[in-house]
Amino acid sequence: MRILLALLLIGCAPKKEISELGFSAGIHPVRFRPNDFARAANGETLETAASCGKCHTVQHANWLKSRHRVAFTNPLYQESHARENMVWCVNCHAPLMKPEGNPPKVTDRLLVEEGISCNVCHVREGKIITGKMPVPAPDKAPAHTYTIVPDMKNEKMCESCHQFNFPTHESLALSATQPIEYASLPMQDTVEEWRRGGLANLSCQGCHLLGGDQSHLFPGGHDLARVSEAIDLEFQQSGELVKAFVHTRGVAHSFPTGDLFRAVRIRIYDKMDLVHEEILKKDYGNVTPEALVPGGAAKRLVSDTTIAPPGPGEFTSYRTFLFKALPGTALRYEIHMDYLHGMNHVITRLPLQETMPLVRTGTVTIGRRENPN
Ligand code: HEC
Ligand code: HEC
Ligand code: HEC
Ligand code: HEC
Ligand code: HEC
Repeated sequence: MRILLALLLIGCAPKKEISELGFSAGIHPVRFRPNDFARAANGETLETAASCGKCHTVQHANWLKSRHRVAFTNPLYQESHARENMVWCVNCHAPLMKPEGNPPKVTDRLLVEEGISCNVCHVREGKIITGKMPVPAPDKAPAHTYTIVPDMKNEKMCESCHQFNFPTHESLALSATQPIEYASLPMQDTVEEWRRGGLANLSCQGCHLLGGDQSHLFPGGHDLARVSEAIDLEFQQSGELVKAFVHTRGVAHSFPTGDLFRAVRIRIYDKMDLVHEEILKKDYGNVTPEALVPGGAAKRLVSDTTIAPPGPGEFTSYRTFLFKALPGTALRYEIHMDYLHGMNHVITRLPLQETMPLVRTGTVTIGRRENPN
């Protein structure tokens, strides 16, 4: 009887497209009704991530340490949202809203302190969303009723939030009362960068969701050990100049990617003196009022010094920069993540260790190989 019931439930699992989960790349919130919450076999409503964590202890413990968990509450977001107070931001950083809620009212959002939670990615219409029907333990009925969304397994899931454009200048002006419309200039281009690169055979999930006891950590630019593993510096003397190579290893999109203010700073010191600072980032400038076009963005891309993803058949990529130093000079380098480049002076309440942490430092004697420590 149990087995029959299990088979029946398996047979019933509906299939859906990712577009049916209510994601809209930030244009609207995701309206979540009380009966959207999943229920345990004993009828208990599973409202919070902690209620899923009773059984899925690893996923829950890891998600607690992830940036997804703090997408709404982290100070970098809070401070920049306070400066640009738009509903649009909340639609991605705390997307769930009561069915009749008012989008600008944060009190109408659900569980904002959980940011991008289990509910956001896995729960709709009382069912658990997953990529493939799981096989329950022998002699057990399935723990949930499921909706199968095959695109949970690929980049389309991540694209719902990690790929979007600048708003049109017209919709930006009306954003307090009307939903955003997108222009054609990418604001976060992570998924397209990955598609253009040579490692698109490796999935976002494969590198960021990770299996086993690492599952749901979603490591990225805030995981300084991971960043450190992904980059190498090499120096070559050429006359009075030094050519520095910044290599990436296993970064399938640009480095850095993501938020428009994100940068990496490489500082080269001769004793205490700063010899050179190289900034890896996409730089945007304002479009002058005369140059605005209908449906265009109010910003334009001025320069891009990020490291491109590896080419076809490659696992590594690099960029170079030049600075002056004589052969035999002992130099020290520092690599910093810089989460809000150019905004730090605006966001004065945050200490520099938080907005611009040190990834790695090392010494090198020019003309010889790098000696990291
Ligand atoms: C950003 C979206 C996202 C969030 C947030 C998220 N998950 Fe997942 N989860 C996924 C994806 C994608 C998969 C892989 C789906 C597949 O391959 O079918 C997955 C897989 C799983 C699996 C299968 C086993 C495994 O580890 O791969 C479980 C169980 C799970 N999630 C539970 C949870 C729980 C519990 C939470 C909250 C604590 C959570 N997830 C939060 C996206 C998410
Ligand atoms: C009472 C324990 C329990 C609770 C609470 C629970 N789950 Fe599960 N879940 C399971 C078990 C057991 C499985 C294994 C498959 C099965 O038996 O159906 C599972 C399977 C899953 C899967 C599919 C895993 C795969 O391998 O594809 C996902 C996703 C998932 N749960 C998410 C959640 C989320 C999100 C919550 C909270 C809303 C939650 N679960 C709450 C026990 C639980
Ligand atoms: C509902 C929207 C949403 C979805 C879906 C989503 N993310 Fe995210 N993700 C975010 C937001 C918002 C942040 C930024 C949190 C913060 O403020 O630091 C983030 C942060 C991250 C980070 C950490 C970045 C860092 O700087 O350390 C990684 C890695 C990541 N996401 C990967 C993924 C992957 C892989 C997927 C697909 C399986 C995915 N995300 C799906 C919204 C989403
Ligand atoms: C081959 C492994 C690999 C794949 C595939 C991959 N990433 Fe990453 N990703 C990394 C590494 C390593 C980092 C850390 C270095 C860094 O900060 O860029 C990273 C960083 C990030 C960050 C943080 C932003 C930053 O630069 O600090 C986000 C967001 C992200 N990835 C999202 C994605 C999404 C979405 C996909 C799928 C389209 C994806 N990644 C595919 C390896 C990968
Ligand atoms: C379409 C979805 C979307 C919208 C809209 C959006 N964000 Fe984000 N935001 C993300 C994702 C995805 C990330 C993760 C990429 C990364 O870590 O670089 C992110 C990262 C950030 C970060 C970096 C946080 C960190 O941990 O380093 C800040 C700050 C931020 N967003 C602020 C905002 C503000 C302010 C707005 C509104 C003006 C906004 N976002 C609108 C999706 C969105």
